Amino acid sequence: MSYPQSLVEKVNKTLNYYISNIEGKPKILFDAMRYSVLSSGKRFRPILVILVAKSFGVPTDEVMPIACAIEFIHTFSLIHDDLPAIDNDDLRRGIPTCHIKFGEDIAILTGDALYSEAFNLVLKQKEYSSSEIVLKLIGELSKATGTSGMIAGQTMDVISGGKRVGKKALNFIHSHKTGKLIVASVRCGAIVSKANNNQLEKFTEYGKHLGITFQIVDDILDVIGEEKFIGKRTGTDEDLMKLTYPSYYGLEKSKEIAIREIELAKNSIKDLNLPVEELLNVADFILERKT
Ligand code: IPE
Ligand code: IPE
Ligand code: MG
Ligand code: MG
Ligand code: MG
Repeated sequence: MSYPQSLVEKVNKTLNYYISNIEGKPKILFDAMRYSVLSSGKRFRPILVILVAKSFGVPTDEVMPIACAIEFIHTFSLIHDDLPAIDNDDLRRGIPTCHIKFGEDIAILTGDALYSEAFNLVLKQKEYSSSEIVLKLIGELSKATGTSGMIAGQTMDVISGGKRVGKKALNFIHSHKTGKLIVASVRCGAIVSKANNNQLEKFTEYGKHLGITFQIVDDILDVIGEEKFIGKRTGTDEDLMKLTYPSYYGLEKSKEIAIREIELAKNSIKDLNLPVEELLNVADFILERKT
């Protein structure tokens, strides 16, 4: 199991560069954007974009705009997810959540700003990709985040708390609130690399299995993880009576499902005839992660 730490640092540097070059005011908005984006995330989604592109031989620098745009969207989702009206969390990435630090009003607006600035960042991909590809990326991201994606999943998540809803709702929540942006990360990496239909299909399968597993493991860590490693409070899903894999299947079975899903993820891309070793490693990391 290994995680590409040097890429995390590269992404951090580039995020800092992009944020520093966004124009506008007031300053508090920029302070809050920097605070949340530049805190210690794993940068898993940008890393997926980068590694998929790398498997096609596309250099990391040439996918940075789209990779960082996705991290902006992810950070926006975390800021809003932590709000009192949603999960009411006070700790994120080892530091107070955006609304604890800057107030609820600024946190809502910071999320909004990150979401719009993300699309402006996608436009910077024009430096390396054709207009046609940039349009495709915009389509991927708006679909993955809107009413067929992350926001639909988050909505189902908040309306399902404490209710007797079943397996179908659980899978909808996980594949949408978390899965869709992970699938989009993989697909955007493939799209900027001019993948053919077969390759895109296989990478999409990889992303779907990876996305579900990512949230199953997140749920498991909410039960058995350590705050000092995951940088957020544990036990919160139970407090909010969230519909999670451990609450539905129990811990043991959840772990079994996660193991099976990671095998399926890896099998989806093994026969592509591309150097996907690092994507296989990152899949194993998702299963074993403590952070
Ligand atoms: C947490 O995502 C929210 C989920 C979608 C499960 P990450 O575990 O990727 O959070 P960071 O970016 O590393 O903080
Ligand atoms: C959040 O799921 C998924 C998002 C779209 C942000 P969780 O609510 O389980 O994420 P954490 O545990 O707060 O990071
Ligand atoms: Mg949530
Ligand atoms: Mg949450
Ligand atoms: Mg969670």
